Amino acid sequence: MMVQLIAKTNAIRTTVFTDADGRYEFPTLEAGAYTLHIAQPREFFPYARDGVAIDGADALPDIVLTRIAKSDVLPPDPEIAAQMTGSEWLMSLSGSGADKRLLTVNCNWCHSYQQIFRNHYDERSWSKILYRMIHGAGSPLININPRGRFSPADEARLAHWLASVRGPGSPDPAFIALPRPQGRATHVVITEYELPRLETATHDVSGDADGNIWYSTHRSSYVGRLDPRTGKVTEFHVPPVQPGALPGTHWIHVDKNGIVWGSENWAHNIWRLDPRSGDFKRIPWRVKEPLNSPMGGNYALDPDGFIWKVRDGKVSKVDAQTGAEVLGIITKKFPGTYGSAISADGRYFGGGAWPRDGVVIADTKSGEVWEPDTSVNSGPARGEFDLHDNYWAGGRGGELVEFNMAEKRIHEFPLPTPYASMYTAQADKNGEVWGGEMHSGRYFRFDPKTEHFTEYVLPEPYGIDRESWIDNSTDPVTVWYVDHEGWITRIQPRD
Ligand code: HEC
Repeated sequence: MMVQLIAKTNAIRTTVFTDADGRYEFPTLEAGAYTLHIAQPREFFPYARDGVAIDGADALPDIVLTRIAKSDVLPPDPEIAAQMTGSEWLMSLSGSGADKRLLTVNCNWCHSYQQIFRNHYDERSWSKILYRMIHGAGSPLININPRGRFSPADEARLAHWLASVRGPGSPDPAFIALPRPQGRATHVVITEYELPRLETATHDVSGDADGNIWYSTHRSSYVGRLDPRTGKVTEFHVPPVQPGALPGTHWIHVDKNGIVWGSENWAHNIWRLDPRSGDFKRIPWRVKEPLNSPMGGNYALDPDGFIWKVRDGKVSKVDAQTGAEVLGIITKKFPGTYGSAISADGRYFGGGAWPRDGVVIADTKSGEVWEPDTSVNSGPARGEFDLHDNYWAGGRGGELVEFNMAEKRIHEFPLPTPYASMYTAQADKNGEVWGGEMHSGRYFRFDPKTEHFTEYVLPEPYGIDRESWIDNSTDPVTVWYVDHEGWITRIQPRD
């Protein structure tokens, strides 16, 4: 079971897991008043106890839960539905595997499946919604491309299925739940920090040298800095964008000098912020895409401060101060990548290919490029290099993708939880790889030596991790991500 203490003063939620005997232990928390809470009680009635005073190593009151249902199939009550992950919704709804796969490969990277399934429409209305979702460019959905991301026949098939399970009269299903975590997956402390604004579609995190975590908001003009010691968030207002453009920052990265970099994916600029003075400087990014269509999303900053990306059929090195290209390495197969990563020594570039399944790896010293395909609908999107220069990417189709530098070949590792998707992957100093299992409310840790996944269950049933940041200064490492719905999550494994 997940036991939480929620601080009265700053709403920081700390979650630990009980063992099989119901024992649990919190790390040292600041003295004060807390709410003792069970996250995701599921087959039990909700439990919360206010006004629990913490001052040192206190024993907490016993928690007695009352069972809702004797069955292992959960009733479709609103409190239970709200705890269900996208995976559990898909396990519980009727429909063919092919119908559900259409949804999981086409609807996974902008918002939760809960957001889809809490709606009820007839087939005509679902068709109209799908048209915007499938033809709209990037997450603003402002520019419409008559050619959709999948065929009109598949679009019609998805509308038909959605109307059959989420029509005006469709009841919520009885729910089949994923198993609760056991063993090593319970040896973790998870801390969540709510951010001050709703519906900003938070996207990336990056840590600075003072232990603060920066985050970007995808569809609003704020970037923010969380001080995890106090929970205090300082917001910085990005100056207004050009007329007619949607504000919003996609990629964010704090460089070694403490300068924060961001990409305005819809307004087509790169900005840099000096947090000491609060000054923003904008660099217009010359791209072919029309305003409000994505310009490429995210970039890699090399140790010398140059920006790297793949667009228009080449791996480009760009002067970050002026936007001018200083080096271009031609690709043969893939015109662009969504992801951009640079190895620790700046020698290799890697990215998830676009518009087909594959990756682009370049040796920026020799000019050699590798462009392997990955399996159909694997969708490697974004990732990072490990210390052996292997490139790891999050596959949207639900797998971890590795380009092994010594072997010059791809390895694919499917996620253990059904209907889970990925977006990004990060390797730590020990060579382990981390990433959110989007839509399954889990966050994994993968050991390449044993090829074993440990899955940490998240207190909120989402896991929409589009960029993580690993703090390698702690032992074990500490992992951070910002969820699309607006909270920053810290994962501290105990082993
Ligand atoms: C490219 C990004 C993107 C993709 C992919 C996407 N959506 Fe959306 N969707 C949005 C945005 C943006 C909104 C409205 C703002 C928000 O809620 O985030 C939205 C809203 C919705 C809503 C309305 C939610 C509500 O509560 O009012 C539904 C339903 C929906 N999407 C269904 C789908 C389905 C089904 C798919 C897959 C075919 C899909 N979306 C794929 C971006 C996307």
